[in-house]
Amino acid sequence: MAPENSKGQYPPSDEYRETAFIKSAEEFNTLYEESIRDPAAYWAEQAENLDWYSKDWKEVFTWDKKENRFTWFKGGKLNASYNCLDRHVKNGKKNVAAIIFQGENDDHVRVYTYGRLLYEVERFANVLKSMGVKKGDRVSVYLPMIPELTITMLACARIGAVHSVVFAAFGAESLYNRVVDCTPKVIVTSDGNYHAGKTINMKAKVDEILEKGTTIEHVVVVRRTGIETDMKEGRDVWWHEEVAAVPLNCDPVPMDAEDPLFILYTSGTTGKPKGLLHTTGGYLLGAYTSFRNVFNYRPGQIFWCTADIGWITGHTSTVYGPLALGATALMFEGVPTYPGRDRYWQVAEKWGVDIFYTAPTAIRTIRQSGDEWVKKHDLSSLKMLASAGEPIDPDVWRWYHRVIGGGRCPISDTWWQTETGGPMIAPMTGAFDLKPGSAMKPLLGIQAAIYDEEKNICAPGESGNLYIESPPPSFARTIWNDHKKFVETYWTAFPGHYLTGDNARMDEDGDYWLLGRIDDVISVAGHRLGAAEIEAALISHPAVAEAAAVPMFDDIKGEAIYAYVTVKDGFNGTEELKRQLVDHVRTTVGPIATPKVIHFAPGLPKTRSGKIMRRILRKVAEGCRKEEIGDTTTLTDPGIVDTLIATRML
Ligand code: PRX
Repeated sequence: MAPENSKGQYPPSDEYRETAFIKSAEEFNTLYEESIRDPAAYWAEQAENLDWYSKDWKEVFTWDKKENRFTWFKGGKLNASYNCLDRHVKNGKKNVAAIIFQGENDDHVRVYTYGRLLYEVERFANVLKSMGVKKGDRVSVYLPMIPELTITMLACARIGAVHSVVFAAFGAESLYNRVVDCTPKVIVTSDGNYHAGKTINMKAKVDEILEKGTTIEHVVVVRRTGIETDMKEGRDVWWHEEVAAVPLNCDPVPMDAEDPLFILYTSGTTGKPKGLLHTTGGYLLGAYTSFRNVFNYRPGQIFWCTADIGWITGHTSTVYGPLALGATALMFEGVPTYPGRDRYWQVAEKWGVDIFYTAPTAIRTIRQSGDEWVKKHDLSSLKMLASAGEPIDPDVWRWYHRVIGGGRCPISDTWWQTETGGPMIAPMTGAFDLKPGSAMKPLLGIQAAIYDEEKNICAPGESGNLYIESPPPSFARTIWNDHKKFVETYWTAFPGHYLTGDNARMDEDGDYWLLGRIDDVISVAGHRLGAAEIEAALISHPAVAEAAAVPMFDDIKGEAIYAYVTVKDGFNGTEELKRQLVDHVRTTVGPIATPKVIHFAPGLPKTRSGKIMRRILRKVAEGCRKEEIGDTTTLTDPGIVDTLIATRML
């Protein structure tokens, strides 16, 4: 890549441009105009890239704006596992690596060719069938980053079951909430997992939730760590024993394009996590198309997305995107800083990674360790870098470009959400002069817009609410069990336009700059957490009367959790109680939700209708002075604001 130009932008090098899917801004503009003139025609053309049993859809796209229901390719039939496996095996990729698994321990390595992966998926699909799992049934998946996770997802897809993956580091309460909502028959888990040198017992958490009562009839346990594991006769079985006992072949089930593929829970503004439902045809097409367009993937390259598959980034960028395209994806179990702070670079060098995709929080952590950790390694195999999950600060972008990318690799800052299924806004790295910190333009077939509160389009430079104008194929269709909430959350603010919940502005060139959430979602190290979920955990402690969690700035994690807590009569806000509360949140929600600050407050600012004024709590947490806090006259007790400022914990 050519160095920074006089405008502070980074044009692609001629060499990179040559390999890119779109090679110039003019080419992009022409394709983009065409794609949004008739999105249905654009997506129907893209759909040719998937393998269909039948393309008998009456209409490519339907959208009932009153009910907020939309469909893509309804009536068309395909199978996601067939598209991710069989068709590549048939097209000469049987012996090409699909997954390179690098465990936390450096010698835990497994490479799955497309042929081998298909074999494993067929066997596990037969295990699920033997447990009575049928088309439409849900299967919960609570596994660390090991190949059995991908195998389980594709095995579900093969027989039409709906997988619902729960992030392995979630605590028992978070796991429970995500499992009971989708009423699965089976949960697939492991005895334990490795995390930064420690062995963590996962099965015990599953046992804990099962004791509370769920619909789960069978527990399949992968032996990953070999730790002592309680197995309940008649309910719990070992993965390796089950796969050895079933037939080898399992034909894929033709699914309607609109049949569900998976449910993935994400945090929202209320306590209950939302189960976003993604469908087979639209999601897979979105994953395929965005993967091809954004990453300029070339056969033989090794693609590494560091996100855990428990989040949408991992679903789309480690499983469905790369495999739909027949790519080779690295799957990494560990963390960036163990056993050394150069772990990512050691892995990238070891496997000759071509494309590296991570979150700004990881880049900030690594940058803080110092350049020497990176310089120890030969990263000349890298061709392209990417980032997702939170805004990337221009300074961090430049460091990523210079130190990791050797000044030669373009960076794609990809903006998207669990709801959108795949990237929506991202630069075409072979075509644009990149702007550090900007996700730049909507992808082909995607229309975005920024509106102010009065629903006027914001002028360049003005910030407002980011909307997606009409739902592309990869969008979630509903919230599992709660279409009303789906409508209220996304489609009510501005009927006919999808509210993203993000703040953004556009610059004079029409490039997008993402500015963070407008709701009560806290993004800790790029992980989306609902304030309400953290508050519910705090309130479940016997000493807590009320709690409110808000984001505070953190130079590594982007945002950290600042929790206000009022204690019940008879309890004192001691250091010991603080420790107890932190531990309590860690075990119920998970270590990612560890509050950075616990502020014992005599009361919380509330309106007369009893609503907690989070705006004020955010400002106090940010360190604002009284005059910067704005109107407090609607509060029942305006004096509480002075008390909070005086007792602020920083
Ligand atoms: O606030 C935005 C932020 O992450 C949120 C979505 O999180 P999640 O559902 O976990 O999906 C992550 C998919 C990458 C968004 O509402 N976000 C995501 N990407 C970016 C981002 N913020 C700024 N820049 C990005 N590139």
